[in-house]
Amino acid sequence: MQSDLAEAFRRAGQGHVLRWWDDLDEGGRARLLEQLRQVDLRQLEELAARIRSDGFRQSVTGRVERPPYVAAADPARADARAAGEALIRAGKVAALVVAGGQGTRLGFPGPKGAFPIGAISGKTLFHIHAERLLACRRRYGVPMPWYIMTSDATDGPTRDYFRQVKYFGLPKEDVLFFKQGMMPALDRRFKLALTGKDQILLSPNGHGGTLPALAQSGMLDDMERRGVEEISYFQVDNPVVPAADPVFLGCHHRAGAQMSSKALWKREPEEPLGAFILAEGRLVVKEYSDLTPEEMNRRTPDGKLLFGLGSIAIHALRVDFVREETAGGCKLPFHLAEKSAACLDEQGQLVAPQGKNVYKFETFIFDALADTRSSVILEVRREEEFAPVKNADGKDSPATCRCGMTLLYAAWLEAAGVRVPRDEKGQPLHPIEISPLYALDAEELLARKPRKLKLDGPLYLCPEAR
Ligand code: UTP
Repeated sequence: MQSDLAEAFRRAGQGHVLRWWDDLDEGGRARLLEQLRQVDLRQLEELAARIRSDGFRQSVTGRVERPPYVAAADPARADARAAGEALIRAGKVAALVVAGGQGTRLGFPGPKGAFPIGAISGKTLFHIHAERLLACRRRYGVPMPWYIMTSDATDGPTRDYFRQVKYFGLPKEDVLFFKQGMMPALDRRFKLALTGKDQILLSPNGHGGTLPALAQSGMLDDMERRGVEEISYFQVDNPVVPAADPVFLGCHHRAGAQMSSKALWKREPEEPLGAFILAEGRLVVKEYSDLTPEEMNRRTPDGKLLFGLGSIAIHALRVDFVREETAGGCKLPFHLAEKSAACLDEQGQLVAPQGKNVYKFETFIFDALADTRSSVILEVRREEEFAPVKNADGKDSPATCRCGMTLLYAAWLEAAGVRVPRDEKGQPLHPIEISPLYALDAEELLARKPRKLKLDGPLYLCPEAR
């Protein structure tokens, strides 16, 4: 054992990580050492100090305003679309999906992207995103590359899955995987939590880890080599998100913005979405957990919620902004998450916890907004862009997501002149699914002239059905 490393851990009050050193074989010792070398003890001390002092709570102080935003009905969107389409056609846009999360709430055994979400097709989240990428390539005639962020928790199974399904027909060289970093977790006594005698508890460092991982993995270089200037960023668990929205990219690009975000109006003040605000003139996303009930309910003179513009984790980022943001290491602040995880007890036994027992630390990509010189917030309609799969049941579950998809495709069909039978609550009577390869959006569906379609059972429109 290198004595200076051991000494550093002892001095920091973390010497317990070596308690079982004598029990470990050579492989185990090497594994443990490798992990310990990655731990930034000073950073952990600072994080523990913050938990002790303010518990990471950031109350809202100073001048707070709702930021300007491009409204969903803004007529300027048509011009923006043309600008965005030109950008995509010129090969300057890449898609990036973050898929490094552990998906603990969903409880699916495997990477979340391999979860079957299609109400009729049973296609997985990755499959639906891949079809959208294929459809974009076809529409714009460019090899839009797709960057997929994984983590130690998801990397192997994700790559295996893509190999198995032959990249869904996408050219392998245009599907690029890169791994985010991991962060150690602390137990309630601020000690590094262990999950094995040779294993500290590590978890993905949050979606903010995208930025340093892009730089460190060489993916930023890859983007620059390909002439990519803009990144269309989205999350794996939202199957209705456009892979590259020309309106959004156009608004962002024409404004000379470095990072832009989509927003929607919260359904109710308590909806657990971060809120876009201007705090002393700086654009930030305020976490819902940091808002008091009074703050959540505060309204502006127009009657709208001050903290009502919710973030749905869809962003556009300039490649040169990511370069700037990551020069000299990642600057994003850590957030605290209290979670439950099985950990070793004093006897070296792995014990399942009763409730939350560890502190995890994550960075969030939206914190990069505060570093921009210019950003655009684009309002979108919830039913068109947001149907997340977070929980196994209840809110934001596969069931609500499938309902959301059916509602969206029903609206497309109705706009194209098809009668969709609905129940008294307005929900279509039958599930509906439209493959992005059949129609990427409502306009493309209209062009297919589906008027004669009769909906008397589940409907799946896919290229084979044409
Ligand atoms: P969430 O935090 O909402 O979900 O991440 P999760 O991590 O998948 O599941 P839980 O919280 O454990 O239940 C939203 C998106 O951000 C990605 C996820 O993969 C998902 O697409 N993400 C999250 C990362 O890529 N890395 C992270 O460290 C965290």
